[in-house]
Parts: sequence; structure tokens; C-alpha cells
Amino acid sequence: MEYGYFDNENKEYVITDPRTPVTWINYIGNLKFGGFVDQTGGALICKGDPALNRIIKYIPQLPNGDFKGETLYLRVKETTGYKVFSPFYTPTLDKYDLYQCHVGLGYTKIISKFYGIRTEVTIFVPLDEEREIRDITITNNNKDSVMLDIIPVVEYTHFDALKQLTNADWVPQTMQSKAYKNQDGYNILTQYAFMKKNNGINYFTSNHPVASFETDRKRFLGNNGYSSWSKPYSLMQENLTNYEAFRGDNIAALMHHLGELKPGESRRIITQLGQCSDLIVEQQAIEKYRDEKNVEKAFGDLKKFWNTFLDNIIVDTPDDAMNTMLNIHNPRQCYITKNWSRDLSLYQLGFGGRGIGFRDSSQDVMGILGHAPEDGRELIEKLLHVQKRDGSAMHQFNITTMEANAGDSREKEDRPDYYSDDHLWIILAVCSYIKETGNFDFLMKEIPFYDKDKEENPLESANVLEHLKRSIEFTRKDTGDHGLPLLGFADWNDTVNLPTGAESIFTANLFGLALKEMIELLSYLGDASTVQEYKMCYKLMQDNLNKYCWDGEWYVRYFDHNGEALGSRKNQHGKIYANAQSWSIISGFAPFERAIKALNSVNKYLSTEHGIKLSYPGYNGYNPEKGGITSYPPGAKENGGIFLHSNPWVMIAETIVGNGDLAFQYYNQINPVKKNMKVGEYECEPYCYPQNILGDEHPEFGLGRNTWLSGTASWVYQAAIKFILGIQPTYKGLNINPCIPKTWKGFKVTRTFRNAIYEIEVNNPDNICKGVKQVIVDGVLIDGEIIPIFNDRKKHEVKILMGQ
Ligand code: GLC
Repeated sequence: MEYGYFDNENKEYVITDPRTPVTWINYIGNLKFGGFVDQTGGALICKGDPALNRIIKYIPQLPNGDFKGETLYLRVKETTGYKVFSPFYTPTLDKYDLYQCHVGLGYTKIISKFYGIRTEVTIFVPLDEEREIRDITITNNNKDSVMLDIIPVVEYTHFDALKQLTNADWVPQTMQSKAYKNQDGYNILTQYAFMKKNNGINYFTSNHPVASFETDRKRFLGNNGYSSWSKPYSLMQENLTNYEAFRGDNIAALMHHLGELKPGESRRIITQLGQCSDLIVEQQAIEKYRDEKNVEKAFGDLKKFWNTFLDNIIVDTPDDAMNTMLNIHNPRQCYITKNWSRDLSLYQLGFGGRGIGFRDSSQDVMGILGHAPEDGRELIEKLLHVQKRDGSAMHQFNITTMEANAGDSREKEDRPDYYSDDHLWIILAVCSYIKETGNFDFLMKEIPFYDKDKEENPLESANVLEHLKRSIEFTRKDTGDHGLPLLGFADWNDTVNLPTGAESIFTANLFGLALKEMIELLSYLGDASTVQEYKMCYKLMQDNLNKYCWDGEWYVRYFDHNGEALGSRKNQHGKIYANAQSWSIISGFAPFERAIKALNSVNKYLSTEHGIKLSYPGYNGYNPEKGGITSYPPGAKENGGIFLHSNPWVMIAETIVGNGDLAFQYYNQINPVKKNMKVGEYECEPYCYPQNILGDEHPEFGLGRNTWLSGTASWVYQAAIKFILGIQPTYKGLNINPCIPKTWKGFKVTRTFRNAIYEIEVNNPDNICKGVKQVIVDGVLIDGEIIPIFNDRKKHEVKILMGQ
């Protein structure tokens, strides 16, 4: 079953059937102002914190056909009354003759045809602006003239998303709406957005005279409230009641009488939804976007922004589905995930839930560095602000207030209150940023450590390099009985929460990679003594891993507080975990034969047609000793599900051992583009990666969930660009060492790096996976695989010949 198609020319995915199995969304704007729009025009829009400053009410748990946040009604006057329908399909669910939801870069455009009326609506937030624009054009494609009205509607919410759902007296008592009219007759409907810290005014307005309005939901729906959004009684009357609600469920509905539209005739209307603190001050900006020309310019600028962003890395491989992801949807998802972290999606609803995760964002950053490195640096700085002086990090924080907390570890007093991996990820992010940009000065930037009791403990600050060294120090000192890092509350796998004293093999390997990065950086900087010290740390950890963690066919994943292994053939459940294998190779700890054996075991026990499972077999029943992993049935999420974030790590490990065929097979297994033809069992958007797919121990094997905001985006992108295509920034230049399927004859990549454009062509005449025989740069043969830094704004031709 297909619900749409990829339009690569326009960098869009076009949904042609609005009845997708689950809601499919797209993001507009960013955390300053924005949110998401679904395939039927529903929207969740916030300014700043999505938990504490929601503007419109979007309740994902409502049935799919229901009104969510925002919609548009059209009505045609007939002799017997009005025909009312929504060009967005929901909430009226009329039969359509055409439906297209163009999921674009930073915008959604819905084009539909119902009853001979063609509607085109472009929905976006202009760059650096705080308003949602809906640019609407309606055309009469009938043979006869029609009398047409258009009624855009939004439903406001209490600013506090949770309170909206949990307090049914206080919330409605705080709602107040007001209507304003200026000399041109435009109406602005405002809603007083009382907030704890700063008061705001939500407003909804258009650029067309408004005949009447409604601000009260019950009145709009009619029949004393016993009606639905699919059939609002008020739309049977010529006009709305012009009621300014001073309590209740506030909406903003604007009745526009468009008059007679002759056959072929069009009308255009632009609506704006925003929030300001002073409507008089805001007036000028509102006027600006009432002008069609300014809206067109803003839309053009948005397109330009995205084209520039994507143009930094363009690939041309023999695989179309891979090209589609790598040239459009994957870098877009990386940017969206970097911007929104885990703050707002269909599944995650603001800081009350997750906010910005230290480990998540440190990894997200690495996905965008080739496209927008300075955006990455800004986020890295924020992250370093929540690192503690002992080197560990706060698990998550609110980006607007910079208040941080210790995540789920707060809930369990008998468990450690830190995560053993968080602070190590930032080393990878900082080193990647410097390799990308050459901005070594950043290492000297002073950044304070996080401290809640700023009054008592004057803020201590240190430069970025010292922050990174403290990360290393924390883990170095925090080891258990086998000399492996203590697990803390958890490592990357949030859901295995063992009693104090447990050790993590994942963190041991992450520590290994972090050390390797620090050794490379400090060698480049000439700090020989620290390099020596870190090499010893690395060797010690490598020895401990290989001494205690090899289980015969694979590496174990944890030691619990009693020294018992988890992820061992001796266990009944959770015998093997993917991350212990991939990461023992990524860290460089595993000797070659063990690496091969471990990867064979992954292939044998964990790989499925829908991706690689995180572990096997799943636990069956809740066990508080083990933690959250046992709360899921076997095959779901971390309990033996296909947790996509971990798949690219196996791809990377396969490229390290030189198996490009398998790396690419694993890439393909989870490429959402390939799911477009059989969305049925998968259900989710085919244009972005989900966090999880149910594994083969689960009756709904293949069902995806939690799309968009997932570390999968950054890591699959890195696996593909840096490891399969093999193009990696280094301190000295661009390193090119592909590991591709043998059948590929070659590929091309255009990559902007350090202010020059590298036009890379790789040829593989001998059909091998890995090995570079010859590198020619601008017609000259060079030694080694590193293409120099040019910094000359020019194009450079790079020809790579693969061979033994
Ligand atoms: C979620 C979390 C991430 C964690 C992963 C595995 O994706 O956002 O931080 O590493 O689950 O538990």
C-alpha cells in the first residue's frame, strides 16, 4: 500500500492519501517559534518551551479524523443551504478528487480538490520570525460560478500543556479572547496567554476583511456543544456570533465572505498565527505579512536556506533510495533533530518529558556539522554549560531556562544519580566540530560548569579542553570490580538500571573511542605527556575488556553488582546485545578475529529483514532488579526490538572490518524510502527514520514508531557519509576511504569543506569493498588518502581509484 511518492526534483515527499495509518508530520520553524504540521493540516505550535508555552491545542491521542489545533473550512452557498467541507480532508471527511500534502523542507503545502474547488495552502514559519503563515489560494474549477466563504479556525490551549489536560476549572477560567478591528476592517482575534513568567497575547488574523468571528468553541460547534468539528452548526448560519469569550475553550474562527467566484477564478488569503507581548508593537510585523509579496519573499528565503544547507554535501551513488535519503531527507532530519532534540514530536511533548538530552544532543550535533557547523557549536556550548565540575553531566535540560536535571535517575533513590556515558559523547562532538572547521580557538573558550547552588558555590569555569579532560577523568576514576566503567543509573541504554556496582561494557568502549579522539587531538596540539597518559588508559581498558568480556562468540554487555554477566550465552534472556559487538570494534578494542566473530553473531542472532535487533531473546515479564527493559514485551523497544539508533553502529563496525556488502545491506534494511511500497505493516512516514521497529519476537513485527527525533538520523547519516562513502574530515584535510558493496562501480560526492568545494569521483574497477590505490587531486597524484585543506573558495577535482 502506498500513500505517496518522493518528488526529489522539488525535494518533497507528496502524500496522496490523507488517511495514512498513523499521523505523518513535518516540522516548521524551530524551538523559538514553530512546531509540526500533520498531513491533514492540523498543527501544534509553540513559542519556546513546548511544555510551557503551547499556543494551539493538539492532542495526538484523539482519533485520526478529528480536528487538531488548526483547520480550514470552505462553504459553498446552495439553494438549500450551505455545503461545508474542509480542503484538509479532516475534520469533515468529504470525498476528495485530489489530495496532495507536499512535505517540503521547512514547509507543508496541501493541494486538494473537493466539489470542483481547488485549494492550495502553503504552511510555514518565515526564517527568524515568530508567526505561522498559511498562504491560501482557492480556485473555482466548476463550470458554474460559486458563492464561497472561507473560515480558518484555530483552537487555543492553555500555555502549560499538562495543565490543559489536568485542570478543567482553572484552565478555562483563565481564557480570555478579544477582537480588534482596524480602519481597513481586518479582524485580529487575540487570546490572553497568561503565563507565569511573561504575559503574552496569542493572535490569529488574516489579510482579508472578516465578516464575523467566533472565539468560543461551544458556540462554534453549536447544539449546546453536542456537535463535532465535522459538522459545526454555526457554519449553517450566514455569520458567526462575534462573541468575545471570557472563559471556556477559546478558539479563533474568522468568517470571510469571498463572494462569487466565476469558473477559473481564484482568491488568495493569508492567515497569521503568532504570539507577542504587545499588539501595538507587533502591528507593523503583522502588516508586513499581510502583503503577498513579503510572504513570497519569506518563502523564497526559506527555500534558499534549505538549498544552501543541503548543497554542502551532495552524493550520487548507484542506489536511488540512498541518494534520496542522503541528499534530502536524512540531513533534513538531522537538522530537525538537532533543533528540537527530544522536545516536541508526536511522541514527546516538552520538557515535562525529555527536553534536551545531553547524550542525545551531543550525538545529534555530529549529524549536521558538514552542513551547519556553527549551529552545532552553539549547541555544544549549551551542552557544556550543564557539565558538572566532576566531569559528569546533567542528563537533560531546558534550553530556554538552562535548568537541568538528572533524568529518570531521580525516580529511584536506590540507584546512582548519573549516567555513565553522557559526558563522553561531548568529546566526540567537539572533536568532530574542530575537524570540520579547524576552529581550535574554541578549545580555549571558558564555559562555566553546571551548579544549582550558584549562591553558595561561586561558579567554576574552565575552557572547553579542560571540560573534555574532566569527562575523561570522571570515567577513569569511576570503575568497578573488573576495571570497567560503573554503569551509573544507565548507559546509552536507558532501560537497563542495575543496582549500584554494575559495570558497563558500552561505556568502556565509548571511553575507548573518546580516548582515541583525545589522543588524536592532543597529538595534533603537541601535548605529548597527556597523550602518553591517555594511551595507557586506553591500553588498560582494552585489556580489561578483552580479559573479562569475551563470551566465546561475542562480547557480554554488562556485569551486574554481583559480577554476573548480562548478554552472555549463559543467560536465559538477553543473551546477546548488538551494542557490545559494534562498539568493541568502533573503540578499536576488539582484535580482528574477535571482531569478525562478534559481527557474525550479530548477523546470525540479531539481524532481521527490518533491521538489527538491540538484543535477543527479549525478557518476559517485569523485573525491578533489571529495570525498564523488562517493562516491554519481547521484541518491543530496548527489549529485543529493532532500536534503529544502534543499526548504524553495526554498519560502521562492518566498514571497519572491510565488509561493505553487509554494511550496505544493513543500511538498506532500514532505509525508510524502501518502505514506501509497503507502508502497511510499518505505518510511519517513509521520509524519516523512526526510533524503533517491533522485532520478530513481537506479533506486530515490522511496525515502526517514534519517528523524527531520534539519534538514528545523525548516526545513519554518519555511517553512510563517513564510513560507507568514507569521506571524513580530519585535522589535516579530507580523508577518503570508502567501504562499499563490491558491485558498485563507483560514486560521486560534492562536499564543501574548509571553504573549498571537493568534487570527488571514486572508481572501483576491481569490484572490491575497501582499499584506495590512487588519489589524484586537480590532476596531480598525491601520497596517502588525505586531501589537503585549500581554503580558497575554489572547486577541486578529486579522483580516487580503489584497488588493493
Ligand atoms: C532513547 C533516548 C536515548 C537512549 C535510547 C536508548 O532514544 O533518547 O537517549 O540512548 O533511547 O535507551
